[in-house]
Order: sequence, then C-alpha cells, then structure tokens
Amino acid sequence: MAQIFVTDRAGTTHDLEARAGLSVMEIIREGRLDELLALCGGACSCATCHVHVAEPDLARTGTATPDELDLLDSSDHFTPASRLSCQIPFTDALDGLRVTIAPED
Ligand code: FES
Repeated sequence: MAQIFVTDRAGTTHDLEARAGLSVMEIIREGRLDELLALCGGACSCATCHVHVAEPDLARTGTATPDELDLLDSSDHFTPASRLSCQIPFTDALDGLRVTIAPED
C-alpha cells in the first residue's frame, strides 16, 4: 500500500494511506487532517490546500504550474516548494511523498 507523510501545523507527521486516482489534497482530507481546508474542493480557486513539498520530492511532483502561481503569489508563506495539493495527482510513483501543510494566511 502506498503512503504519504504529512506534517501538520503543530509539527506532527502523519503517515497516510494513499491511493492512485486521488489528489494529494483528497488523501490529506481522507486522513482527517481538517486544518487543510480545501474550500473550493479542488477547483484550483482558493489556495487553502497550500503545502510545501519536501525538497528531495520536488523532482517527482514538479513545481507549481502558472495557474497555481496565480493563487500562491499572494501567500505570505509562498516558497519555491509551494504547491496546491489539489493539483498533485497521486500515482504510485509518488509513494513516500513528504509534504508540510503551509501556515494559514
Ligand atoms: S482546494 Fe482550492 S485550490 Fe486546492
């Protein structure tokens, strides 16, 4: 079974079961990490699913797309590792992915 590791805003890392076909946002929500609000439901229009991808994993996820950057630009917590987790489709190639939920803007 694939898994991802998600660090919450308190610094606790959660090991979540991950299934291909879901986005990373959906996996985090299924893992009951409710601090990731994901208010728009994955429509790439709210930026409340902002995460920071661990540096070694950026080669696997890629960096933010232009549509993501439009939303992330205004975040005080934007970094080169910023992604909208709803825009990262999970595949088995991302097994072991590590992300941290960005602080709330
Ligand atoms: S859930 Fe709204 S942009 Fe990702």
